Amino acid sequence: MPLDRTPVPDELRGLRLALLVSGGIAAYKLVDLASALAQAGCQVRVAMTQSAARFVGPPSFQGVTGNAVLTGLWLSAGSPEPHVELGDWAQLIFLAPATANIIGRVASGRSDDIVTATLLAARCPVVIAPAMNDAMWSKPAVQENVATLRHRGVTVVEPETGHLASGHVGTGRLADASKLLKAMADAVRSRYDLAGRRVIVTAGGTREPIDTVRFISNYSSGKMGFALASAAADRGARVTLVTTANHPEHHGVELRHVATADEMLAELRAEIRAADLLMMAAAVADFRPAKTATSKIRRESTPKLTLELESIPDLVATLGREKDAEGVFRVGFAAEDSDLAAEGLEKMNRKGLQAIVANDISRKDTGFGSDDNAGVVMFTDGSSHELEKMTKREMADRILDLVVPRLKKT
Ligand code: PMT
Repeated sequence: MPLDRTPVPDELRGLRLALLVSGGIAAYKLVDLASALAQAGCQVRVAMTQSAARFVGPPSFQGVTGNAVLTGLWLSAGSPEPHVELGDWAQLIFLAPATANIIGRVASGRSDDIVTATLLAARCPVVIAPAMNDAMWSKPAVQENVATLRHRGVTVVEPETGHLASGHVGTGRLADASKLLKAMADAVRSRYDLAGRRVIVTAGGTREPIDTVRFISNYSSGKMGFALASAAADRGARVTLVTTANHPEHHGVELRHVATADEMLAELRAEIRAADLLMMAAAVADFRPAKTATSKIRRESTPKLTLELESIPDLVATLGREKDAEGVFRVGFAAEDSDLAAEGLEKMNRKGLQAIVANDISRKDTGFGSDDNAGVVMFTDGSSHELEKMTKREMADRILDLVVPRLKKT
């Protein structure tokens, strides 16, 4: 099917794709493919062998993807190790047209150019689409190398039979665009069960100002929220982390810094309509000073200070009643020091949530500030899952294992 009539599968939208091009005549077809993927919202970065660059100029790929093209291990201005940086960045690597030479070099673990080195540095699924002369494709050496790559988990899109550049008719043509896109989507689906999904996570304790230098807050460090955000991004989601804390950068996680519950609610409202999943790990204040002083309150002029607190509306319950949040799967966290399951269940129902994670904050080794957590995940269908003590990142993965299959099908 011609590329302009081949729909790009949803799984690939928003995905970070490294397109590796090796030196075959079919390299020109990759420009169209890169263009279609970029237009569909995929982030495409291209690396080419020197031979590929003789078939198609790097500016063509740069033009359609909007990103600089890597053609060597030493040529990148941005990174001293461009192959490692690209391998880390990519959520999927697609190599085409995979020549007999590059297949052999990849199978033997070579890393002497940007394409082979990126493949060796990759941490993500790899799809390759061979294309070559039919006699070359049929040789045992090539077939054994292809089998080796398959055995190592690489997806190989078989070449097709038809007219070849050599003038022969045989098997060796680069597979049709619809097959290439399907193989990429399948590889993404099996590895990234949140591909194409938008996830919002909240993290940290809100800060409710007393005056220009003081605030009321709590012990939340934001670690649980960051663990959830990075776990969701690693599964392919586009994540917005609305947070009061500082976090390291993570691919696929966009940070929105806020301080107060009001600011957090405004960010959530701006994002919720496009979201599939909201996970409220933030410890949102229940009370704030009824009045905020516009300058520093001084002890000299205020020997006794009485603060009047007003309650803060429940953010997640408020959102849940709004039209934009309809269909968004909402997971709350319950910070409890006793009766975890009963308190969690009551909060899930009262706040109109689809699930709640009740965690024990009376323990020193879990909950607030700790690298570990433990608790119980409950759903509105009555199911409940104990999570023993583990790292917050492990807990985030376990929570997502339970939540993702319950998301509305897209
Ligand atoms: O940040 P860490 O140091 O890693 O610690 C993690 C954590 C212990 C803070 C986290 O796992 C956790 O339990 N977060 C929820 C804390 C909390 O506010 O619990 P709650 O039981 O008071 O609230 C229940 C739910 O309602 C929460 O999802 C909360 O975000 C939400 N809420 C609460 C108050 C409010 N005004 N609006 C809300 O939306």
